[in-house]
Amino acid sequence: MGKVIAIANQKGGVGKTTTAINLGASLAANDLRVLLIDTDPQGNSTTGLGVNKRAGLPTLYDVLLGERTMDSVVVETAFHGLDLVPADKNLVGANIELVDAERREFRLAERLAPVKAKYDYILIDCPPALDLLTLNALVAADSVLIPIQCEFFALEGISELMDTIDRVRDAFGNPLRIEGILLTMYDDRTNLTRQVAQDLREFFGDEVFRTVIPRSVRLAEAPSFGQPILIYDIRSRGAESYIRLAKEILENEQANRKSAQGAR
Ligand SMILES: Nc1ncnc2c1ncn2[C@@H]1O[C@H](COP(=O)(O)OP(=O)(O)O)[C@@H](O)[C@H]1O
Ligand SMILES: [Mg+2]
Repeated sequence: MGKVIAIANQKGGVGKTTTAINLGASLAANDLRVLLIDTDPQGNSTTGLGVNKRAGLPTLYDVLLGERTMDSVVVETAFHGLDLVPADKNLVGANIELVDAERREFRLAERLAPVKAKYDYILIDCPPALDLLTLNALVAADSVLIPIQCEFFALEGISELMDTIDRVRDAFGNPLRIEGILLTMYDDRTNLTRQVAQDLREFFGDEVFRTVIPRSVRLAEAPSFGQPILIYDIRSRGAESYIRLAKEILENEQANRKSAQGAR
């Protein structure tokens, strides 16, 4: 059964989409079957994986508000093992159109259930808002990965995000775990980055991934070619960091499974 990881932070520009695409590719490179669900109306994961947002392309919108099954909108990407559920600007309407729906927070979880067995990992790229789409992602997820940009206002909004995670646990009965906090756009030449990273590690402790994602021009360039960094420049520091992140997540998974077995 695929493990579902929501990649969330209501702040824009912190590296959610870059992480969704490149962690997705790095997991797939380990011979795992990976599905990336784009839930951002901007559709950056869609474009960044080289999928053309042409008119009539079936998207997540048609699954959440139409008759289509999740399965029927999945597209293969150029990266072997990595599939995508595309999004486009139609999704803007979903927030409003879902408001009156029954079990509106569970729509994504319900529509995702039938395809979960086909994948090892399902990553959900969230929009930059604590809206109904992000709430649907958190309700559908087993865990949440929170990218944080190493800059002065890094912690801004994080308590609000943590409150939302608590609400998903309490009000929606989903024992959502924190997969980890990911430090992105790390530039070790600046004192500010190092200071912010140190503060975040003090504040969140073990919840912060050991792997950090460096600021890298190659990572920023790759989406304009519709490619994950593993295709665009496999030898770059950016590629190396996402490959390491995938490894860290797989190791954590194994450790968790062992301790769960030990507890039985
Ligand atoms: N590690 C990085 N180094 C350099 N640029 C990055 C890095 N991660 C993301 N970017 C760039 O920063 C911008 C915001 O990143 P993105 O992943 O789209 O954030 P979000 O999805 O949280 O809005 C994009 O232009 C992206 O290419
Ligand atoms: Mg994004």
